[in-house]
Amino acid sequence: MSENTRKILVTSALPYANGPIHLGHLVEYIQTDIWVRFQKLRGHNCTYVCADDAHGTPIMLRAQNEGITPEALIERISGEHQADFAEFGIGFDNYHSTHSKENRDCASTIYTRLRDGGHIATRTITQAYDPEKEMFLPDRFIKGDCPKCGAEDQYGDSCEVCGATYSPTELKNAVSAISGATPVERDSEHHFFKLGDFEKMLREWHKAGHIQDGVAAKLKEWFESGLQDWDISRDAPYFGFEIPDAPGKYFYVWLDAPIGYMASFKNLCSKNSAYDFDSYWLPGGETELYHFIGKDIAYFHTLFWPAMLHGAGFRTPNAVYCHGFLTVDGKKMSKSRGTFIMARSYLDHLQPEYLRYYFAAKLSSGIDDIDLNLEDFQARVNSDLVGKVVNIASRCAGFIKKRFDGKLAETLGDEGLFNTCSRAGSEIAELYEAREFGHAMRQIMSLADLANQYIDEQKPWVIAKQEGSDAKLHEICSMGINLYRLLVTYLKPVLPQLAAGSEAFLNIDPLQWDHIKEPLLGHAINKFKPLMTRIDKDKIDAMLEDSKQNLPGGESEAPALSGPLADAPISDTINYDDFAKIDLRIARIVKAEHVEKADKLLQLTLDLGGEQRNVFAGIKSAYAPEDLEGKLTVMVANLAPRKMRFGLSEGMVLAAGPGGKDLFILTPDEGAELGMRVK
Ligand code: MSP
Ligand code: ZN
Repeated sequence: MSENTRKILVTSALPYANGPIHLGHLVEYIQTDIWVRFQKLRGHNCTYVCADDAHGTPIMLRAQNEGITPEALIERISGEHQADFAEFGIGFDNYHSTHSKENRDCASTIYTRLRDGGHIATRTITQAYDPEKEMFLPDRFIKGDCPKCGAEDQYGDSCEVCGATYSPTELKNAVSAISGATPVERDSEHHFFKLGDFEKMLREWHKAGHIQDGVAAKLKEWFESGLQDWDISRDAPYFGFEIPDAPGKYFYVWLDAPIGYMASFKNLCSKNSAYDFDSYWLPGGETELYHFIGKDIAYFHTLFWPAMLHGAGFRTPNAVYCHGFLTVDGKKMSKSRGTFIMARSYLDHLQPEYLRYYFAAKLSSGIDDIDLNLEDFQARVNSDLVGKVVNIASRCAGFIKKRFDGKLAETLGDEGLFNTCSRAGSEIAELYEAREFGHAMRQIMSLADLANQYIDEQKPWVIAKQEGSDAKLHEICSMGINLYRLLVTYLKPVLPQLAAGSEAFLNIDPLQWDHIKEPLLGHAINKFKPLMTRIDKDKIDAMLEDSKQNLPGGESEAPALSGPLADAPISDTINYDDFAKIDLRIARIVKAEHVEKADKLLQLTLDLGGEQRNVFAGIKSAYAPEDLEGKLTVMVANLAPRKMRFGLSEGMVLAAGPGGKDLFILTPDEGAELGMRVK
């Protein structure tokens, strides 16, 4: 390693150990991995660590629901996360867990130092307590009526209907989402981190170029509303670390989560003596530290985390790099559209490097959301990677193999062009460094265009038929292979698998960035095999179909009306809260159609006033489609979508009557408004 070798430690946010990795998460892990691979390719000493975020109430409750210990749950999920990451080529140098000895030690050190520095306060607060489950309830686990607008079934922290924020004690008719019991108020002593002590330090740190402009604007708002003390403790039962000097109290998951970065690195140090913990975590060293995160968790990483580090005598990060959120086809990922795609569902149908390339092509250094447009995804990958890049090798390799015994020429067909493409490397490197991956991909593709143009103009397939033109053919094809080698070097951070396949084909050592200076001449290469194939639309459709089927209850058949129930016993009673959960709305039947091969069903398009739903209803015995169009009905608007043999049903219409011809679903028009609630 040369003197200019940088020592860089990089992290991605730690995924929660209570659910699988989805394509939204992958924006972050792919972005970070590309940056890390780029640094390594440039010869820097770059280390990428991550871990599962294993603590907190949701994980504890999920384990209880599954009837297993939280330890067993987090171990299983960690295995699943790591398998998904590995298949997407995410090359962590270490993957650990926040539920680890190292993290317990680091969290205890940081807490103790903050306490000794006078930055921890304790005071008694009143909180909602579930008397049945015997635990304090996090805001998200309390539901009730909004204190401002009265909307029912709202979470304890904010109302999804009117947008009001409030404290859970203000909620009307509150119930515990865990047991259904009415919460009571109970006092408990809590520990707080005095964030305000660090206001000056944070203001300076923010001005010193460690954060992006888009985030700085958000920070300004946060400073204006004042830096509040941060509640870092939770009462038992809680899955986490007990606070050293407070038995029965636990660190809130977000306290020890970022410390997990440090703990994962510490774990790496214990496995590999080449790493020295202090040189990466004490102030004043030469090493660099970067955190890649999503914009939703900027508050934790640009306020609490630097303040905690500083207050405990550790270094602060060189930068926190935020990215935007993933949308699919321009919309928030949605379970009913099948666009809430798990990493595993993707891997079952498509190659990981397609997605790595597509995300790279979309990513910039900003915090704008990025869209996975599935049509564009297919077109872009097919045209750029298969049509442009891999095609260069396949156009030249055959001649080299057949006519020149697999050996490249001693001279290039167009040295000027080689130099142009080689010199372009410095701008591409700057773009990678600045996380302007989309711009870098465009530059690389314009070089691929030059390479293809060269081959189009030189027409090796024509030269090959001309007598006495062997030397020329040899030079042209060797030139093509050399341009391909440059392109693969530039793409290597994004496409490590394509690069490995190409290194085998070119019969060379692993490519490094500075190899682009010299061409490959007089060198024997191996037989060319297609290194990447086109994306087939059927594969994308199958992935979406799978993603729909992974919905809860997604396998079921038609929810056909079961006919007269008069002779059936009345089922067990439900309480008012169960009834209140049903969202009944007035909807207009804008379209009604027969369903092929279904003898009971009609397919209805229902308009809720701004939103349309597709619903299959077992009412064919009573209505012809033309009787229904334009009329109003009452529907259950919040029924989870169901995948049926004929398509997705996004709700249910209410019907009354003995059945057969006598089934009634229509409601009068007078005084009704689309989307109106009917309870
Ligand atoms: N456990 C916390 C992070 C603790 S870091 C000390 C967490 N976990 S998460 O699983 O919800 O998210 C992990 C990362 O994935 C976060 O940076 C988050 O912003 C990112 N993403 C989760 N969903 C995403 C999208 N739909 N789009 C882009 N990134 C997303 O937060
Ligand atoms: Zn409200």
